[in-house]
Amino acid sequence: MNILLTGGCGYIGSHVAVVLMSAGHQVFIVDDLSNSRRDVVGNIAEIAGRSPAFYEGDVGDVAFVRDIFRRHQIEAVIHLAGFKSVGESVQWPLKYYQNNICGSLGLFQAMEAESVSKLVFSSSATIYGDPQYLPVDEAHPQHVTNAYGRSKLHIEDMLRDISASRPSLGVVCLRYFNPVGAHDSGLIGEYPRGIPNNLMPYVVQVASGKREVLSVFGGDYPTPDGTGVRDFIHVMDLAEGHLAALNFLSSNKGWHAFNLGTGRGFSVLEMIRAFEKESGRTVPFRMAARREGDVACSYADVQSAERALKWKATRVLEDMCSSAWLFQNRLSTKD
Ligand code: WQD
Repeated sequence: MNILLTGGCGYIGSHVAVVLMSAGHQVFIVDDLSNSRRDVVGNIAEIAGRSPAFYEGDVGDVAFVRDIFRRHQIEAVIHLAGFKSVGESVQWPLKYYQNNICGSLGLFQAMEAESVSKLVFSSSATIYGDPQYLPVDEAHPQHVTNAYGRSKLHIEDMLRDISASRPSLGVVCLRYFNPVGAHDSGLIGEYPRGIPNNLMPYVVQVASGKREVLSVFGGDYPTPDGTGVRDFIHVMDLAEGHLAALNFLSSNKGWHAFNLGTGRGFSVLEMIRAFEKESGRTVPFRMAARREGDVACSYADVQSAERALKWKATRVLEDMCSSAWLFQNRLSTKD
């Protein structure tokens, strides 16, 4: 199938591209490179043995996207392009609404104009807010507390309305928990610009000596060791979940949403210990105050995805740590 992959030069996008191409699909990447690097296309090609097509541009530019749809008879869209920092979204909400919501709106208008009827959308567990029960299932109340999460929820709701008006359309919203790790080749991985917001890239940079110490945000949560608990999922399991969603759309229409997680939570301290074991490095850390907006504990109920998508995460915490460390080492030799 010919698939348009927005944000395909990013962390999740590059892994999705590899999985789709390994499954025999033709991938057409659209990325504005605002938070990614052009040379990722070459890394994807090195892994897949052939290159995806690449267009630099704005997914919200209707004429630009329609031209790509027509030129390549695109049959499905996997939409990952979007800003994704919770903290930044609190500081710059308009930037998030413009980029995430207006960008998606243009893409959906182009899809409708060119009768493209399959969409997999990158959503987030952030839309659930502080869990009222665990594990979190898809019916959990939605309580967004920041512009990033609100943009994801608004886009999901836009897609509910669009799919209700267009019976031929099939939509799957994938609600990511905490993606970490990298492809086994070490050629692609998480490469954030500036100071990492998320735990794993920060741990990796401390282990490599790029940063001195990790601040553990809160040691007094009502969790077994007092630190935050999250459902960390290997990025390759997450990427395979997108292929499973695409296959699901070959025989299903309408709007659907699925959690992508492992169904199990690990604490910050457990992640640090696992990483030290896999990397052979010490990760110096200091206990710090809780981070505004953080929840104590979150992990997914993944039964819906397992049943409907016939998909299940298989990689363990050790795989996540060893692959992230491999990628960092390859970066260090490159930089
Ligand atoms: C995980 C745990 C922190 C950094 C966010 C977004 C979510 C998704 C993934 C986009 C928490 C602790 C972190 C650090 C720390 N992104 N931590 N020191 O906040 O669960 O989720 O990223 O879709 O939408 O909300 O992930 O990796 O930032 O934090 O102690 O330097 O690690 O307090 O307990 P989070 P995270």
